[in-house]
Amino acid sequence: MATLPNLQHYWLPFTANRQFKSMPRLFKAAKGNYYTTIDDRTLLDATAGLWCVAAGHGREEIASAAAHQLRTLDYAPAFQCSHPLAFEAAEKLADYMPKGLDRIFFTGSGSESVDTALKIALAYHRITGNPMRNKLIGRERGYHGVNFGGVSVGGIAGNRKAFGNGLAGVDHLRHTLDISRNAFTRGVPQDGGIALANEFEQRITTLHDPSTIAALIVEPMQGSAGVVLPPAGYLQRLREICDKYGILLIFDEVITGFGRLGTKFGVDYFGVMPDILTCAKGLTNGAIPMGAVAVKTEIHDAFMANSAPNAIELPHGYTYTAHPVACAAAVAMLDIFNSEKLEERAGSLSSHFEQAAHSLKGLPFVKDIRNIGLVAGIELEPTPEKPGARAFATYLKCYEMGVHVRFTGDVIAISPPLTIEKNEIDRIFSTIAEALTSLAKEGDAGLDISQYLKNEQQWAAHQLEIQQQANLE
Ligand SMILES: Cc1ncc(COP(=O)(O)O)c(C=O)c1O
Repeated sequence: MATLPNLQHYWLPFTANRQFKSMPRLFKAAKGNYYTTIDDRTLLDATAGLWCVAAGHGREEIASAAAHQLRTLDYAPAFQCSHPLAFEAAEKLADYMPKGLDRIFFTGSGSESVDTALKIALAYHRITGNPMRNKLIGRERGYHGVNFGGVSVGGIAGNRKAFGNGLAGVDHLRHTLDISRNAFTRGVPQDGGIALANEFEQRITTLHDPSTIAALIVEPMQGSAGVVLPPAGYLQRLREICDKYGILLIFDEVITGFGRLGTKFGVDYFGVMPDILTCAKGLTNGAIPMGAVAVKTEIHDAFMANSAPNAIELPHGYTYTAHPVACAAAVAMLDIFNSEKLEERAGSLSSHFEQAAHSLKGLPFVKDIRNIGLVAGIELEPTPEKPGARAFATYLKCYEMGVHVRFTGDVIAISPPLTIEKNEIDRIFSTIAEALTSLAKEGDAGLDISQYLKNEQQWAAHQLEIQQQANLE
């Protein structure tokens, strides 16, 4: 059994660090749909890592392509130079994208993709003679990563309020979650979509001049804020309004891209075409950080046509844009997608998945269940004084029972690798059912996290002792 590393120095992202370090949850290996923890337990991965390991863990094709690339060309300057794999990766990705979104800008993450997309939208209007179009619209509960642009158009209060004012000139649409009307809807809710989308038009005409709006950014399905689906007709209507007023529509497909909904992209699922699409995560199967922005040909071409000869058309980019190792991983991953048709696999599993998810209806605390493709959100009644505590306790119980789920607020979010099997889907939801049933029996005691992961807690305590000893010596 492995020993714990020194836990002091690493500051974990989006994590209660003190709590984590009292019961560290550490993985040491992964293969297929399973993790191995540091204490040699096997965990079924019900979250595809962080929505990114679409093709299952430890894919040999990706590992060997990345290793080969590291030994051949570890890095090439991204500005004013490049390397052939960057073009190959862009061509493959353009082929995989919805038709017309075929000019690709590479980034290092979803957050960078979002900020890149927002900057392209602003710069596009400027370069085409509309510099007064400089406002951006996002949506309540939207998650667009953690950089200043993404946080500004994002709509999760907890991610915004610690960090000052963000970008100026940003407004938000209402979110589309309506549990009072749509609780336990299977798939997309049928009601309310057009009215909600019409509020966009009302807001921009009442509060802003629509000719000042550069872009609207939305996730086709909101993932991080707890699996919020667009009602039928909503995205279509947003598209119409954008067209009416010359506003660019950006789809943030960092989660919905690469087969998650049972189609290649949310674009294909909903039949609505954006002007710009952001992606990341599944692009390299999570194996190497990489994101991309796919832009309509005409938008790209406007930069080329309206810039002075020899000028840099878009003064933007990253040291790691089109990193050779990331490109190698992306090419290998796109080959896997094309040969294994993972989106079709996800689509064919989605009704079994839906059935299994909705079997939790009626269990203690279950307030709503939402699903689409291979995504489910199980919203729990919050405990009055401890929002999120019940979902966290459910997470810990599932962890102890060998299934890794995810919680966000009071929602348990499930998004397994697209390589998941039916019996594994059943196991995910029966484990959640067991966790909820035992939480109901235990009452307040079930929310006391000191009772969970004793092994990990003992390790952490032991580690602390060693450190204290070392400090004394
Ligand atoms: C829709 C969406 N956009 C952007 C991001 C940010 O991606 P990253 O964490 O790679 O920066 C995420 C991450 O979950 C996301 O879900």
